[in-house]
Amino acid sequence: MERLKDKVVIITGSARGIGFSIAEAFARNGAISVILDLNQEDIDKAVQKIDDLGFRALGFAANVTDPNAIAAVFKEIVGQLGRIDVLINNAGITKDGLIMKMKESDWDAVIAVNLKGTFVCSQKVCRYMLKQRSGSIINIASVIGIMGNAGQANYAASKGGIIALTKSTAKEFASRGIRVNAVAPGFIKTEMTENLSQEVVDKYSEAIPLRRMGLPKDVADLCVFLASDEADYITGQTINVDGGLIM
Ligand code: NAI
Repeated sequence: MERLKDKVVIITGSARGIGFSIAEAFARNGAISVILDLNQEDIDKAVQKIDDLGFRALGFAANVTDPNAIAAVFKEIVGQLGRIDVLINNAGITKDGLIMKMKESDWDAVIAVNLKGTFVCSQKVCRYMLKQRSGSIINIASVIGIMGNAGQANYAASKGGIIALTKSTAKEFASRGIRVNAVAPGFIKTEMTENLSQEVVDKYSEAIPLRRMGLPKDVADLCVFLASDEADYITGQTINVDGGLIM
């Protein structure tokens, strides 16, 4: 199925985890997935994996918090591929701790990558999308940005901020044919959550009506839909992929 044939898609933080799964899903649907992450070796491995499956990907190293680096990479991508159709702001980190004990540097780091990084990449991509008068931006938020979580004030604030940023960007860009939506995953099985004990997984799963953790593919499939023409009347929305955890 090639519903995104030849679309150029940039996915930040996509050398592994949910981001990689999104890159693979877009490539499977005919898109050219651009893997953007921090470490060149990890990026090369991720590109190779998609290449081995017979799909198209290329990779660039850049930090989403660095506006000059992001602008240079996007310019290079447009130079090579001619356009940017979809941006997925997926790069994200956690530095958990109770507010009383949270280091200011941990607050700053999480806000910088998750929230400022989303702003930086959206700002740098918009000059191309505005000129094209088309595009789709998908921001990966989290259910924690909606419901909050003890020990994750920085992360929750960054993800709540992403939801508000999504709505503002959607309003600014709508008249130019650019749609902006957010996806809020619940509890997803990735490298990050792989080391949890079965006991902890069972405890979390009990709170989920569908009684299981989500898979990266569950998030990726929604991103493919949101970027496709089938979603061309959807903008400014936050859609949860959480097995019914929040309703
Ligand atoms: P992960 O830690 O497995 O992958 C994150 C990727 O982002 C890594 O490859 C990392 O190198 C990259 N990255 C980090 N900082 C970066 C920066 N400054 N510039 C460029 N790349 C950077 O994380 P995972 O689990 O795949 O999460 C992906 C997104 O989904 C994150 O935004 C996360 O907050 C969100 N999410 C994850 C959930 C989960 O259960 N795993 C639940 C809800 C949201």
